[in-house]
Amino acid sequence: MMDSNIISFQTCGFFFLLIFLDPVYGDMSYSFPEEMKRGSVIGNMAKDLGLERSALSNRRARIGSDGTDERYCDINLNNGELIVADRIDREGLCGEKASCILKYELVLENPLELHRISLHIQDKNDNSPQFKEEFINIEIHESADKGARFVLEDAHDADVGQNSVQQYSLKNNDNFILSVDGNTIELVLEKELDRENQQEINLLLTALDGGSPQRSGTVVIHVTVLDANDNAPVFSQAVYKASLPENSPVDTVVVTVSATDADEGVNGDVTYEFGHVTEDFKKIFSIDRKVGEIRVIGPVDYETTKSFEIRVKAKDGLGLSSYAKVIIDITDVNDNAPVISLTSLTNPIPENVSPGAEVGIINVQDRDSENNRQVRCSIQQNVPFKLVPSIKNYYSLVTTGQLDRELVSDYNITITATDEGSPPLSSSKTVQLSVADINDNPPVFEEQSYSAYVTENNKPGSTLCSVTARDPDWRQNGTVIYSLLPGEVNGAPLSSYLSVNGDTGVIHAVRTFDYEQFRSFKVHLMARDNGSPPLSSNVTVSVFISDVNDNSPQILYPAPEGNSFMTELVPKAAHGGSLVSKVIAVDADSGQNAWLSYHIVKSTDPGLFTIGLHSGEIRTQRDISESDSMKQNLVVSVKDNGQPSLSATCSMYLLISDNLAEVPELKDISYDEKNSKLTSYLIIALVSVSTFFLTFIIIILGVRFCRRRKPRLLFDGAVAIPSAYLPPNYTDVDGTGTLRSAYNYDAYLTTGSRTSDFKFVSSDNDNTLPADQTLRKSPSDFAEVFGDCDSSPEVGIVVT
Ligand SMILES: *[C@@H]1O[C@H](CO)[C@@H](O)[C@H](O)[C@H]1NC(C)=O
Ligand SMILES: *[C@@H]1O[C@H](CO)[C@@H](O)[C@H](O)[C@H]1NC(C)=O
Ligand SMILES: *[C@@H]1O[C@H](CO)[C@@H](O)[C@H](O)[C@H]1NC(C)=O
Repeated sequence: MMDSNIISFQTCGFFFLLIFLDPVYGDMSYSFPEEMKRGSVIGNMAKDLGLERSALSNRRARIGSDGTDERYCDINLNNGELIVADRIDREGLCGEKASCILKYELVLENPLELHRISLHIQDKNDNSPQFKEEFINIEIHESADKGARFVLEDAHDADVGQNSVQQYSLKNNDNFILSVDGNTIELVLEKELDRENQQEINLLLTALDGGSPQRSGTVVIHVTVLDANDNAPVFSQAVYKASLPENSPVDTVVVTVSATDADEGVNGDVTYEFGHVTEDFKKIFSIDRKVGEIRVIGPVDYETTKSFEIRVKAKDGLGLSSYAKVIIDITDVNDNAPVISLTSLTNPIPENVSPGAEVGIINVQDRDSENNRQVRCSIQQNVPFKLVPSIKNYYSLVTTGQLDRELVSDYNITITATDEGSPPLSSSKTVQLSVADINDNPPVFEEQSYSAYVTENNKPGSTLCSVTARDPDWRQNGTVIYSLLPGEVNGAPLSSYLSVNGDTGVIHAVRTFDYEQFRSFKVHLMARDNGSPPLSSNVTVSVFISDVNDNSPQILYPAPEGNSFMTELVPKAAHGGSLVSKVIAVDADSGQNAWLSYHIVKSTDPGLFTIGLHSGEIRTQRDISESDSMKQNLVVSVKDNGQPSLSATCSMYLLISDNLAEVPELKDISYDEKNSKLTSYLIIALVSVSTFFLTFIIIILGVRFCRRRKPRLLFDGAVAIPSAYLPPNYTDVDGTGTLRSAYNYDAYLTTGSRTSDFKFVSSDNDNTLPADQTLRKSPSDFAEVFGDCDSSPEVGIVVT
């Protein structure tokens, strides 16, 4: 403000500035705005100099410069006005100088006068503030802190003073404010940048001058936000849930996780990995680092792990990471067959368990779940067992019926368990059950009764027969031991006759049997097992002794040779065929062995007598004649029919005489003996008595029979045999009448006896024929025997 005393006007119109001029050679000073139109009047110099208008032209006024060619003003000589001659651009002339003064001289001649003219060019706001460039590019790291400053180039305004740049303004934005300190203009970060939010920011900076009208200039500040790794990857979901069937094949994609990172480049390069997981998990799943796919790489087993919960980490290139949760639920597949286990088993089971008894407990497990673990259990049909469902997965194996070890001793019970999966799986288990023995079967003889046949005279110790009893029980319960039950045979203990081998059931004779003593007997045997308590059964063994021809015929009449003399009287008048006498013989054997035949082996007169082959009857063959010797002697042999046959002989003396008195000397009768006279008399007496006796009997019997039916047979002589003559053991031991035919045979002494009329009649004859008291058996014993026989002709002992 060098010329503060100069009143300046704001230009627009043509205003004058009145200036006090120096009186001498005074300077003139004008102030006016730049950029006035050519011809515009700056001032009136004539007036200012106090000169006549014409004076100027008269005095040849002119504007002179200091040497510069440029003349921006001129003088109108007509009226003395100073006018603008050329465009006056203050900025062009003075630049940034605060005052812009153009100096000229007014030269007047005549007299020469020199007046200095100062033209103060006033600034006019004709320039806008201007920035060097239209765009300012700034790159700022997004990580720049709040308060960070970024210097900007200031704006320039050619105008000066108030018209120069007075202020700046920044168009509203979120991040920056402007700080102006003198010429230093700075962008101050007011709020942190976020590249991810706004990668580029355009700011409009306006510079304003103080002119009126005000002018402004703008520049666009292009802020590029540089990335900083300020963003961690972000998963698309916080929790990923996947459901995976077990046994999924390798390479199955379970789930794909994905995370994005707002940063760019390496900062936004996301890789995936598992967070902390177990070793087991690592064996089953893998994650693709780049893609985030979780795949199956190993066996997935629902039964091992039903669900996995892990964290997946996403990491960007520079190590920011974040986590997401991945829950993999494994779903069940029916891949486990039920497992049957035997919790307990009673084995063996006694065969007498009652139906419904529990013999075992079975547990069935299926590792699958839901329907896949619903198990049904069954058992095969044809066994007497069933499964009864018990608590939970337990089943009781119970019997449904009575067991019998002797029928079925082992059961293979197949238990089948099937689950309800789809498709169902099943498994089976075979339980081997044995049935333990109970001594429930007595030994049973193979036959209801046994018969043993043994020929008499057996060797002691010989085998009679063997019995067998079966016992289906097990071991000692089925081990059969044979024993004799106590009994008696003929008053002697049974054990003295027989023994039985306890193990084999073979029956041995202990002693020799004699058919003639007894023909049969019964033995009771017991078969007992070794159980506890033992069971037993009994059987009867009938032992039949068969005959052997071990007895030679015994001649009862006549008395055996040499013991006595028996003489038969034969009437002289006897005709041919008359019965003269009879040889009576018995054989203690039976059947063929006792079938006797009679033969005359020697006779005085071979033609005279014959003997009945089986009857033993001696008859005359022809009429007796006078010429026949009075004494006849016969030797009779009696043979049985056994093999070989046994025989006995006897002699029979016959006297052909009508009168005992005629009997010659007895000593002549015998061939060779020299009996005393006394003996002869005794014999004669005996013969007489017996003859008399015989005759008496004959008569009585004859009369009896004649009366009844057969008077013709009167003559047939018959000899009753005293019971005493029978062999002592000649008895029917059995006496039951159940003898087999072979045994019946021995009831007949001879075939001829059938027709015989003579019977040994019991009680009647006992009186007349006293028993020999030396016999072992009393007569009544025989009486009983023969009495029985009387009613049954087949078994009677008949002697003719
Ligand atoms: C039971 O099975 C066993 C072994 O397989 C076999 O030896 C036996 O004979 C079977 N028993 C029955 C009664 O089927
Ligand atoms: C025999 O039966 C009894 C029960 O009667 C039983 O206790 C025993 O075990 C059985 N013996 C054998 C060897 O089976
Ligand atoms: C067998 O006989 C004996 C002796 O007489 C008797 O004690 C037992 O009970 C009998 N046994 C049977 C099964 O009849």
